[in-house]
Amino acid sequence: MDPMSSTTRLLPPLRIGPLEVDTPVVLAPMAGVTNAAFRRLCREHGGGLYVAEMVTSRALVERTPESLRIIAHDPDETPRSVQVYGVDPATIGAAVRMIAEEDRADHIDMNFGCPVPKVTRKGGGAVLPWKRDLFKDIVRAAVREASKFDIPVTVKMRKGVDEDHLTYLDAARTAEKEGVAAVALHARTAADYYSGTADWEAIARLKDAITTIPVLGNGDIWQAEDALRMVEQTGCDGVVVGRGCMGRPWLFADLQAAFEGREERVRPGLRIVADAIYRHGELMIRHFDDDEDKGMRELRKHMSWYLKGYPVGGETRRSLGLISTLAELREILDTLDLAADYPGTEAEGPRGRQGSPRVPSCPDGWLDTQDITPDLEARLREAELSVSGG
Ligand SMILES: Cc1cc2nc3c(=O)[nH]c(=O)nc-3n(C[C@H](O)[C@H](O)[C@H](O)COP(=O)(O)O)c2cc1C
Repeated sequence: MDPMSSTTRLLPPLRIGPLEVDTPVVLAPMAGVTNAAFRRLCREHGGGLYVAEMVTSRALVERTPESLRIIAHDPDETPRSVQVYGVDPATIGAAVRMIAEEDRADHIDMNFGCPVPKVTRKGGGAVLPWKRDLFKDIVRAAVREASKFDIPVTVKMRKGVDEDHLTYLDAARTAEKEGVAAVALHARTAADYYSGTADWEAIARLKDAITTIPVLGNGDIWQAEDALRMVEQTGCDGVVVGRGCMGRPWLFADLQAAFEGREERVRPGLRIVADAIYRHGELMIRHFDDDEDKGMRELRKHMSWYLKGYPVGGETRRSLGLISTLAELREILDTLDLAADYPGTEAEGPRGRQGSPRVPSCPDGWLDTQDITPDLEARLREAELSVSGG
């Protein structure tokens, strides 16, 4: 049977406004990870929607070189997807207008999931939807500007501040009313940070509540079978995959196969992994305008993810974590036991951020009321200045 036929597909294509994504899989935006180089590696393996690293609306409006690099796409990348973070409706509106008027993206996601204390302390990220009117105004500004150019806006959020201050159902209903094209839920609260396991039941509840736009589930998809399980348990319309693909861009091949009802999975031996690392290095350097040092420094953090479970000694791992030239990278990769087979489940499973629960820092009195005061609004604008994503 044709593996693409609708009878074997587990889900229909994902519709995000005017966009149709055949494989209902989204690469989660990850600051410091999902740049054009990494997205290219991932895209080469499977279908899906590949979101860029988060960019702050203020940096975009100010046209900082780094913000423009973050939203740049390879010429063959389609659809071009970006994620914007912001706390001020006017700045968000201006940033989205700029992206739309200058034809810089085909899809805009909005970040309401960042749990990093320096952001939440000022009222941004995952704690922002608690202020219902402000959340509505921000989403409204983005949709207003993007819709003039038929660009869909989506919203990515967490469950809330903590279990006593959940926001996702309200916020998603608001977003739906304001015309967003899909909502994605990372099923943890800001207080959970990255600890424990994601609460997929919350995704199921969200799917029950939101009926006119797709609901995307996010959290703890480490392999294709997890994605199938999430769809089965929650009824979500698509999945968002973050840490699971770090060092495993071939996970997108597995995900595509799984959603097409096929059993095959990519199980790379060490030679293929080494080739991917090298290629990632080349793409990184190109991404940073041929700055070899910068490209290699950015590649370093990926090493332990790529090598998880493979027979590579501590000394070699350490030197890979310090490389500064492509030639050096080649030399070290050539010393690996390239005939080593796929190590099995050792190579899979959790990687990247974990961390323990914490009391989220919020501005004083933040949780006392869901209304916003002028004083808080002024303080919030500061939350935009320096954000590292998450
Ligand atoms: C290194 C890193 C950077 C992240 N940066 C962002 C970001 O810029 N925007 C965002 O919405 N989420 C960000 N996240 C959260 C992920 O998009 C995702 O929601 C989270 O990792 C849960 O999905 P997972 O269990 O598949 O990793 C980041 C996560 C990590 C690990």
